[in-house]
Amino acid sequence: MQDRASRDPGAAVLAAAFRHALRLAAAAEGATAPNPTVGCVLLDESGRTLTAAAHPGAGQPHAEALAIRLARQAGLADRIATMVVSLEPCNHHGRTGPCSEAILSTPAREVWYALPDPNPTASGGAERLRKAGLAVRTLADLRHPDQAALMAEATRLLAPFACRVLRARPFITVKQALDVAGSMIPPPGQKTFTGPEALILAHQLRRRADAILTGSGTILADRAAFTVRHVPDIPGKSRILCILDRRGRVDAAYLAEARQRGFRPMIAGDPAQALHELAAQGCNEVLVEAGPTLLNSLREAGLWDEWVLIRQAPPGQGDRITITRNTRQA
Ligand SMILES: NC(=O)c1ccc[n+]([C@@H]2O[C@H](COP(=O)([O-])OP(=O)(O)OC[C@H]3O[C@@H](n4cnc5c(N)ncnc54)[C@H](OP(=O)(O)O)[C@@H]3O)[C@@H](O)[C@H]2O)c1
Repeated sequence: MQDRASRDPGAAVLAAAFRHALRLAAAAEGATAPNPTVGCVLLDESGRTLTAAAHPGAGQPHAEALAIRLARQAGLADRIATMVVSLEPCNHHGRTGPCSEAILSTPAREVWYALPDPNPTASGGAERLRKAGLAVRTLADLRHPDQAALMAEATRLLAPFACRVLRARPFITVKQALDVAGSMIPPPGQKTFTGPEALILAHQLRRRADAILTGSGTILADRAAFTVRHVPDIPGKSRILCILDRRGRVDAAYLAEARQRGFRPMIAGDPAQALHELAAQGCNEVLVEAGPTLLNSLREAGLWDEWVLIRQAPPGQGDRITITRNTRQA
């Protein structure tokens, strides 16, 4: 039997539009909490891109509303035929109006979205659009060789938001660096022992994080700044610096310096409770930068989602970086 993909001239166009929407969403990673990162592409009848947009951040227009606004500003709104979105359009009055209504204010007849909205208060957009007579399909319906890769990308981009909404804790990325001998402890007088590539990665991970989680041992040993320096930071972003410190060993001067660097310090005693509180404060993603004591606690409790391991290589060779996903999260 002939595969539907080979008969459907729209599949390649839709796959390209999903790729575009996901690329836009990825560029906004770390900027949108407590909201998800979302990208949207508007196509005309012949599959040409009219406008595209990502949700810039909380309190600002959703990706669909922004793409529609751009189309209106460019005088292209009456040509909107298909909308391609990385997440199901919302159906609720939050800080902005429902995207389902914004879509119904256009001539769009077809909406494709990658994943359903995991947030029960915002979901229902697909149903609303179907009831209004639009053809609503998901990325799972797309018959294209890139479908699985696009789905994996969309799922990973949504993971921090989905984790906060469904598990009441942020997505937890752990960064761990080991020297050639397998130790996490830097030599006296040094704060790190990894190369430039790992340093850039560490700062990219900080950039996307809404909070940094660390232990008092790391603060006492390194007095780390935890700022984003080796890549451009998200303008205006303030992060929570959550320090596990049951014995109150972290001094007030360090906390005052952290505030001056733009952090909101938070002292906690129990990792699970601290993570719950970070989610309640709207953090989608936490980066753990801690020593072996806290990392062991988190590993034992299954409180991690992505473990980024940087192994120092012998001189002349690049560090080895591996990223492991936890399939049995707590
Ligand atoms: N290579 C790397 O990736 C890396 C990264 C960061 C740090 N480090 C190094 O790690 C060393 C510090 O190691 P560390 O193990 O002492 O640091 P840590 O894991 O950052 O801090 C440990 C402290 O956290 C507190 N804590 C509170 N609740 C905890 C819980 N449930 N589980 C575990 N700890 C909890 C404990 O103090 P209380 O009992 O007072 O609460 C504990 O002593 C430094 O030399 C630093 O340079 C290496």
